[in-house]
Amino acid sequence: MDSVLQNDSVGQFKKRVFSGVQPSGGLTLGNYLGAIKRFVQMQDDDYETIYCVVDLHAITVWQNPKVLRQNTRELAAFFIASGLDPSKSTLFTQSAVPEHAQLGWVFNCVARMGWMQRMTQFKDKAGKNAQNASLGLFGYPALMAADILAYHATHVPVGDDQKQHLELTRDIAIKFNHDYEVNFFPVTEPVIGGPAARVMSLRDGTKKMSKSDPSDLSRINMTDDADMIANKIRKAKTDQHALPSEPEGLEGRAEAQNLVSIYAALADESIESVLRDVGGRQFSDFKPMLVERATEVLSPISNKMNLIMKDIPELDKILDNGASKAKSIAEPILQKTFDIIGMR
Ligand code: TRP
Repeated sequence: MDSVLQNDSVGQFKKRVFSGVQPSGGLTLGNYLGAIKRFVQMQDDDYETIYCVVDLHAITVWQNPKVLRQNTRELAAFFIASGLDPSKSTLFTQSAVPEHAQLGWVFNCVARMGWMQRMTQFKDKAGKNAQNASLGLFGYPALMAADILAYHATHVPVGDDQKQHLELTRDIAIKFNHDYEVNFFPVTEPVIGGPAARVMSLRDGTKKMSKSDPSDLSRINMTDDADMIANKIRKAKTDQHALPSEPEGLEGRAEAQNLVSIYAALADESIESVLRDVGGRQFSDFKPMLVERATEVLSPISNKMNLIMKDIPELDKILDNGASKAKSIAEPILQKTFDIIGMR
């Protein structure tokens, strides 16, 4: 097979990373440490990296068009401000590459109702009102599989809430290959973990940090200024014990665990080495250290984001270039798929 179809001469798939983030607004420290930071690190490893602002996924729940357009650009700006280099990574918007939706349709016909009905995220998101959820919200994991497999991506960095969707992606690839007697789609590996795989709420260390938490004190937004960050960390929930010197001492202490792991991720250090330094100290000593780290890392990113958002034509140019690079990979893969399934 030729190289664009990703099979090399021994039938192995090359290392290609794909991931997507929804432009649904409200970027937090959780998005940065849990996802974007790792995406950016991977561009310097031995991978080809492709990152997508998944606007088609966002409209599975209604979005105000103006706000969606703004959020899409802001998310792209956030990627770039966080260190994504458009000459190393491909960055684009999903709707600009129609192959996603086209392959998504094919996968709607491969995935089984029973598989989709087991998706816990749909149950969580649709809640009691499932009858009123969009068909798109139900089918969304099949589109996600298409995002990934349109590039023959082998590695997908995601948060652990996306694990089940990646298993579905593997099931779709396997069933397609089996039903058509080909070895065409790779069985994708999830890459879970990273600097801080799960950044938790500052008010409750057992809940994920989320833009939808009613309390703004629960999260650090990428748009918060230094005073707001300091205030939120000062008010962050803790327990009354001193910090331990070893990771075992964090067990059962969700808030302490969270603050230490945020610090470690921001400082590019391991939890062990952070605790070696701060073990025995009180939170009243540790919190100012965390404030300093957080502002040191986040201020330059938000400043850069603001600058990028001042030059929309330039940003759109980067996204358009990304889309044509992406299309040059996805188009032959879709054509080959159509060929395999018998489209004239
Ligand atoms: N479903 C993912 C989320 O909500 C976003 C997403 C869409 C994605 N397509 C993807 C992630 C492909 C990884 C790969 O976070």
